[in-house]
Amino acid sequence: MRTQVAIVGSGPAGLLLGQLLHKAGIDNVIVDRASKAHILGRVRAGVLEDGMARQLTAVGAGGRMAAEALVHDGVWLAFMGRRFRLDLKAHTGKSVLIYGQTEVTHDLMDARERAGLMTIYSAENVRPHDFDGESPSVTYDTDGIEKRIDCAFIAGCDGQHGVCRKSLPEGATTVFERVYPFGWLGLLADVPPVSEELVYANHDRGFALCSMRSRARSRYYIQCRTDERVEDWSDDAFWDELRRRLPPDAAESVTTGPSFEKSIAPLRSFVIEPVRFGRLFLAGDAGHIVPPTGAKGLNLAASDVHYLAEAFGEYYADGSEEGLRAYSEKALGRAWKAVRFSWWMTNLLHRFPDAAPFERRMQETELAYLSQSERAAAAMAENYVGLPY
Ligand code: FAD
Ligand code: DHB
Repeated sequence: MRTQVAIVGSGPAGLLLGQLLHKAGIDNVIVDRASKAHILGRVRAGVLEDGMARQLTAVGAGGRMAAEALVHDGVWLAFMGRRFRLDLKAHTGKSVLIYGQTEVTHDLMDARERAGLMTIYSAENVRPHDFDGESPSVTYDTDGIEKRIDCAFIAGCDGQHGVCRKSLPEGATTVFERVYPFGWLGLLADVPPVSEELVYANHDRGFALCSMRSRARSRYYIQCRTDERVEDWSDDAFWDELRRRLPPDAAESVTTGPSFEKSIAPLRSFVIEPVRFGRLFLAGDAGHIVPPTGAKGLNLAASDVHYLAEAFGEYYADGSEEGLRAYSEKALGRAWKAVRFSWWMTNLLHRFPDAAPFERRMQETELAYLSQSERAAAAMAENYVGLPY
């Protein structure tokens, strides 16, 4: 098989890149090791910046989002038994959309199918080859038979455990990493959310987040230890712990019900530099991971592929390699700011096991400052809605 861009990974980064390239008349094939059903079964992020929303609309995958997403003009921050509202719209003129990553993936897959573009799911042993030369390829196995996709470029959109980053020669890259000493236990239930807008809570017992997927479906998270197991958390134990960590008015409005998904995610910050090696370009979680606190992971995948599609577009329109050369710096320039913001929000809101009383006071004081200073609030709002690209 031959294509212009072979995309490894059918998550949001790979799928959106595929549609952007298609719009620019650039042929692409996606290959993923997972099945379509498995990918659609993953529950992950839920907050879209307007840059991502604009891109989904531009590639013809924004119809359902426009009809179903909730527009949020603010978020709540809770600490010491009270909460205050961060007015995103007033500070930035922008809002965020509540629309699940599962739905984004669904809509992009539908758009890809309508465009008649090729995706290979359940591919085994996917591997990128010869990307340091002129003729790269991607190989994979189906039913024990090896297949090869010859291409001009490879886009590594295969997430944090993917094969593309691991295929880079040792010494060609630098890794920056921070592993946090806790995880998030998430629960999804068909119950009305506790509040019209998201609530991020700092509490002595640990962080809690009240999010949602719709007016009838809630997504909640509580900070947990990294050695805890989902099986050890009954729904009742989760609801009790969540209520303990919320201010009284919010705790009283929690509607409980049976969960239909529960999972634990570890938290880490990770960046590899550069995200280009020869004809292999990394985008999304393949190149950087952020802790979920700032809701940035999914949105970063979208800005990366925006820069990447622009670079491929220039190359195929007039042969210019300028954009390809600039890709790593441009994508990482924006990504590092989201890495910083996610790290800052994580530090602000979580209970660190070894935190001294001094550090707790610093968190409380920073939250008090955010609630009182228009300028501090504006800086947070600008980052939360997403920096421009
Ligand atoms: P992915 O969505 O990970 O897609 C990568 C794709 O590559 C997958 O389909 C995978 O099957 C495929 N793949 C992997 N390895 C190979 C291989 N060897 N060969 C072929 N294909 C391969 N972000 C938030 O903002 N908020 C959240 O609440 C949140 N929760 C999360 C919870 C979890 C458990 C995880 C893992 C992530 C979460 N994130 C969250 C982050 C967000 O979901 C990611 O940033 C986003 O999915 C990145 O998109 P991506 O396309 O780069 O990677
Ligand atoms: C969700 C996840 C986040 O990490 C976040 O900051 C806000 C919302 C969610 O899954 O709904």
